[in-house]
Amino acid sequence: MCGIAGYIGKNKASKFLLEALKRLEYRGYDSAGIVVLNKNIPKCLKSVGKINALEKKMKNENLDGFLGISHTRWATHGSPSEDNAHPHSDCRGNIWLVHNGIIENYKTLKKNLIEEGHSFKSETDTEVIAHLIESHFKGSLEKAVFSALKQIKGAYALAVISKDDPDKIVVAKKSSPLVMGIGKDEYFLASDPSAIVGYTDKIIYFDDDEISIITKNGHQIISAIDNNEINKSHCQIDFDASKIEKCGHSHFYLKEIFECPEAVKNSIRGRIIPEDGLVKLGGLETLDQDKLREINRIILIACGTANFAGLVGEYIMEEYAGIPVEVEIGSEFRYRKPIIDSRTAVITISQSGETADTLASLSEAKRKGALTLGIVNTVGSTIARETEAGVYNHVGPEIAVASTKAFISQIIILALLTVYLGRMRGMSLTMGKRITEEIQKMPSLIEKVLENDRQIKDLAKKYSRYRNFLFLGRKYNYPIAEEGALKLKEVTYVHAEGCASGEMKHGPIAMINENFPSVFIAPSDSVYEKNWSNMEEVKARNGKIIAIVTEGNEEIKNIADDVIYIPKTLEMLTPILSVIPLYLFSAYMGMELNCDIDKPRNLAKSVTVE
Ligand code: AGP
Repeated sequence: MCGIAGYIGKNKASKFLLEALKRLEYRGYDSAGIVVLNKNIPKCLKSVGKINALEKKMKNENLDGFLGISHTRWATHGSPSEDNAHPHSDCRGNIWLVHNGIIENYKTLKKNLIEEGHSFKSETDTEVIAHLIESHFKGSLEKAVFSALKQIKGAYALAVISKDDPDKIVVAKKSSPLVMGIGKDEYFLASDPSAIVGYTDKIIYFDDDEISIITKNGHQIISAIDNNEINKSHCQIDFDASKIEKCGHSHFYLKEIFECPEAVKNSIRGRIIPEDGLVKLGGLETLDQDKLREINRIILIACGTANFAGLVGEYIMEEYAGIPVEVEIGSEFRYRKPIIDSRTAVITISQSGETADTLASLSEAKRKGALTLGIVNTVGSTIARETEAGVYNHVGPEIAVASTKAFISQIIILALLTVYLGRMRGMSLTMGKRITEEIQKMPSLIEKVLENDRQIKDLAKKYSRYRNFLFLGRKYNYPIAEEGALKLKEVTYVHAEGCASGEMKHGPIAMINENFPSVFIAPSDSVYEKNWSNMEEVKARNGKIIAIVTEGNEEIKNIADDVIYIPKTLEMLTPILSVIPLYLFSAYMGMELNCDIDKPRNLAKSVTVE
């Protein structure tokens, strides 16, 4: 959950190393550090807090040198402090490294190293690696790294430099993401491509158990298992710098909410054949289509917001493709004993494509012989490479920690997949046409919802004094109640609960009073009447109600304190419209409460450790 970067080449390393940290800050931001080698003398700076604290320190220091590494941290072992910030070094200040991941056997290794006389400065698992490399160092950095990795258990993306074996960076990858940008006489290393955009568009994605030795004149990749050379060709980065800038918005979170119409257009481009009510998913056409036709059960696995998209997908797929669907939380599924066979399709949904719990569940499903598919946004990410086939969201980089446009696109892709699999089964051409035509209207319908921006900003101001909220919905919009609550928690730190409206009377209603507002997601669908009676139950206990309903619903004004209207659409697609006001509400309330809505405390964008 950290961001690491490295540079070796013809230019001053510190420039890229700092800029890269700013772009990777959404991965973790409780402390940061940099070390640059200048004429074989390492110069290291560390700071607690966000990157600008490190930048201030760097301004007063001369950080010359053409080679270096840097890090922005999300603490796992040892609280945020300068001692625990990366880079970490060995006893002699020869080996310096930055790390993203968790070393599971660090306690045992540390105990042995202390018995061998090593002294530690931090509480981190990472520092153990520096001392382990030191214990194997006999002049060749890559040989020492190779030997040290043999003793390590866990996840890592590592970048290591040494003053006694200078002019090279040695990197290693296992489970945590790591990419390398190839420039002219220079190399850029980072946890993800967004840090390298604008420096070069040639990129190599490292795979697990790969070590690379990089000098300014070239690089070599070897296997950490058998030390054999690995030839890898580079790919092209498929997005430009504008995608990682705020483009006039005050925050990435707001920018990405307003990008939702564009995100849907990019997710459906070239994938709908309206005249035949069919869907084209190039990423699945590589598969034997009979295998897809024979699927008799689907398990959707994801974490956080992506899991709630899966919940919407479950309703859609069961109702329109007639396939039994289960939705699983990654961190639970990986430790369960799931019954899986070759006619089970396991679909992992992930924006980053790097979420450790989802990844581990995927490996479990592969071991059990399931057909593994992915719905992933980050091109070239581990989940995308580990699944047999899949569908990219194509919404571009999502910078704000709280996911929005990726969520909308995940629901769109699940609806497209429903038509793709449904039309292989009983779904009629008419139904296929109806669904795909309505999906194509989504960008303009979302635009209409975004026009409520001003009203929602005022509502957020009005409700910013409350400290507890209950979000309620039924059927397709029950997952939206969960997602709305998650967003409010993430970006305002206010207590919020998502609840299926029908569940309220089984407990949560006990909390309701005039200081505990309820947000009802109640479009005019097949369960609207049921939601109405739940609203009456809240009103009977003086509860305040904000209702998200379908335009033209006038009676709602008799029971709700505030009403937000969304356009009419198919019941199965209402979640795409009803979630937008909840995103804006959380954004504006977060701003009202002076929260950092792009980088909320204690969170990170891609959770690469368990
Ligand atoms: C959502 O706003 C959060 N950032 C978090 O719940 C996220 O959805 C979860 O960590 C899964 O991430 P992924 O989609 O990258 O796998």
